[in-house]
Amino acid sequence: MSKVCLVLGAGRGIGATVAKKFALEGFHSYLCRRSDQSALEESIAEIKNQGGLASGELIDATKEHVIEELIEKIEKDIGAIEVLIYNLGAQSGFKNLAETSLKEFEWGWKMASQGLFRATKILCPLMVNRGSGTIIATSATAAMRGNKNQHSHAAAMGARRLFCQTLNDEFASQGIHVAHVIVDGMVDAPDTLGKILGPELFEELRTKKGKSNDGLILPEKIAEAYVFLHNQHRSTWTHEMDLRSFSDSSWWNSV
Ligand SMILES: NC(=O)c1ccc[n+]([C@@H]2O[C@H](COP(=O)([O-])OP(=O)(O)OC[C@H]3O[C@@H](n4cnc5c(N)ncnc54)[C@H](OP(=O)(O)O)[C@@H]3O)[C@@H](O)[C@H]2O)c1
Repeated sequence: MSKVCLVLGAGRGIGATVAKKFALEGFHSYLCRRSDQSALEESIAEIKNQGGLASGELIDATKEHVIEELIEKIEKDIGAIEVLIYNLGAQSGFKNLAETSLKEFEWGWKMASQGLFRATKILCPLMVNRGSGTIIATSATAAMRGNKNQHSHAAAMGARRLFCQTLNDEFASQGIHVAHVIVDGMVDAPDTLGKILGPELFEELRTKKGKSNDGLILPEKIAEAYVFLHNQHRSTWTHEMDLRSFSDSSWWNSV
């Protein structure tokens, strides 16, 4: 049996890159994403080519029982999930209140906090029994500030942030390190930002702001921060971390 890093939301931005980094640390990384089978296989092959252990599957994490059954299956067949990376985003575009449907609002909540609730409800007791575990939730500026036309996203991510705090309050003293990571800026992420912008605009953005300009947050550098969080000594745990490019204003200073 292996020690497992489960990544929920393993696109080729943060999710699969974090999976790759944990595989280098000796974990069997289990990658889950919703729809792109060939990209999933590509990410798994990259990890195997670097000598790591990886597998994964397509899931819709918003569907009833999916997360619960997934966790049970991995614990039985592969090994103890020592690290959970909850990386599902809840961005559904910029819309005013009239344009924001109830369905979309509920979807945001399912992605941002209900899924994390479902995953931790089953995983935390297992981690408590083992006396250790790391849960890292990727988050966003929207968890800190309600921007215009971000009703669904901000309400959802704000809930994620506070749920991470309540998890930390209950489980830190039982050996579980819960970290909420505010990604405060755009990420060089082809499967999310890249799809929202489309290939041409995304490449233009990468050329103008990203690449060697370092104005787009690099998934590899986020992955380093996640491994750092996992390896922190329990006398000095970080619960909340924020990450942004040197050239971006922080969420509390932006207009
Ligand atoms: N990208 C940014 O600019 C940015 C900025 C700030 C914060 N963040 C945060 O970063 C996290 C996402 O990281 P990322 O943007 O780099 O993306 P990523 O890790 O490259 O990809 C995330 C993946 O989540 C999968 N997914 C979506 N809905 C799902 C569902 N219902 N069930 C299972 N998987 C699902 C998608 O899979 P498929 O593609 O296969 O459908 C997608 O590829 C989110 O927490 C977001 O709030 C991102």
